[in-house]
Amino acid sequence: MKDAYDAIVLGAGAAGLFCAASAGQRGKRVLLLDHANQPGKKILISGGGRCNFTNRDTAPDRYLSSNPHFAKSALSRYTPADFLEMVEAYGIAWHEKTLGQLFCDGSARQIVDMLLEECARGGVEVSCGDALGEIAHADGLYRVAFGGRVAQAPALVIATGGPSIPKMGATGFAYDLARQFGLKVVQPRPALVPLTLAGDEALFRELSGVSTEVIARVSGKEAGKAAFREAALFTHRGLSGPAILQISSYWQRGQTVTTQFMPGRAEGWLKDAKRERPRTSLRKVLAEALPDRLAEALCERLALPGELGAMSDKALGAAEAKLARWPFVPDGSEGFAKAEVTAGGIDTGALSSKTMEARKVPGLYVIGEAADVTGWLGGYNFQWAWASARAAGLAL
Ligand code: FDA
Repeated sequence: MKDAYDAIVLGAGAAGLFCAASAGQRGKRVLLLDHANQPGKKILISGGGRCNFTNRDTAPDRYLSSNPHFAKSALSRYTPADFLEMVEAYGIAWHEKTLGQLFCDGSARQIVDMLLEECARGGVEVSCGDALGEIAHADGLYRVAFGGRVAQAPALVIATGGPSIPKMGATGFAYDLARQFGLKVVQPRPALVPLTLAGDEALFRELSGVSTEVIARVSGKEAGKAAFREAALFTHRGLSGPAILQISSYWQRGQTVTTQFMPGRAEGWLKDAKRERPRTSLRKVLAEALPDRLAEALCERLALPGELGAMSDKALGAAEAKLARWPFVPDGSEGFAKAEVTAGGIDTGALSSKTMEARKVPGLYVIGEAADVTGWLGGYNFQWAWASARAAGLAL
């Protein structure tokens, strides 16, 4: 029968493309469906158009999930080196930018083209541009209506991602489908997202455009020891920059985010400065290490005018402590419209960590961002997409 396949993969993003290719190259007849007019749209805009396609430092503890052990198996069986081998086999030039992050020298388009070529080698039928209709499961077969057709297969892969950046076609479709088949969904929330400031702290918005290196942390039990030493950026709505995006994934409403300004200073550095240069002002000392506008804003809030020599060691100690854990209480985030990923998602408790198959719904698989596995910023999310896709692609 023409519309009968071994597997139907829903979502031609990073995970769906790689899963379909992996299964197709094993001789499976695979149909890959997407409602968008072209595959891999998020890949195309990723990494500022150069696609940060993996991270050399990938490790399970760089992923958030209600089930922290879930990602281990897939990540260990398909590694950054494995993906890099394919990138090199296609002659795609790449470079390591910082912190293990690997980018294309050229364009993210090369990654999409590579994945499409891998699909072609596996004889995958790719269909884009039609909304998905009813999805039914009976007699061991999944039936998917789309574009006036109904395709069927004994296996169905949910690879439709999460709802971050809806204007790019992202939807919560994966969650609706999961619920239809009795799978639970861990409350989805925006992650890797700028945080917003209100009230007194809104004053910091005057610093819009100012950036500096910090160590960002978040209070609260769940945050554990998460700490990110990278740039923070003040914006007209609050805080952004890599350090803040990273910590936003751990932040929950009501919690305090702290930033350590001038990280790496030895304890007592302000008191030392007082002894060495008693005539200097705090503002001047801060401006030696921080952008001028930020130094001024922090100084105003520390309320220590005048010369260092006139300040008590106690006051300088307190200023130092505050600079090391400067508290911000965000009133929210910029939401799914600006979130690079979605934290939460389809509960992995119901999935096999070896194959990504739902244990109680034979033939139903969940991969990529749709599942409750969220990586750090810096290529970790694509590596999860590849690894989970490979695990399912080899099991279909
Ligand atoms: P993905 O979102 O890629 O694909 C899902 C597919 O399903 C889409 O093609 C969509 O059209 C389709 N779909 C959705 N709903 C549907 C429906 N109802 N019917 C049919 N099809 C449907 N990560 C990283 O590691 N390095 C990076 O450089 C970046 N950069 C980056 C930049 C920006 C701006 C964003 C928004 C995100 C990133 N990311 C990233 C994150 C990364 O893009 C993301 O984690 C992966 O694309 C997830 O892959 P998936 O295949 O799971 O979903």
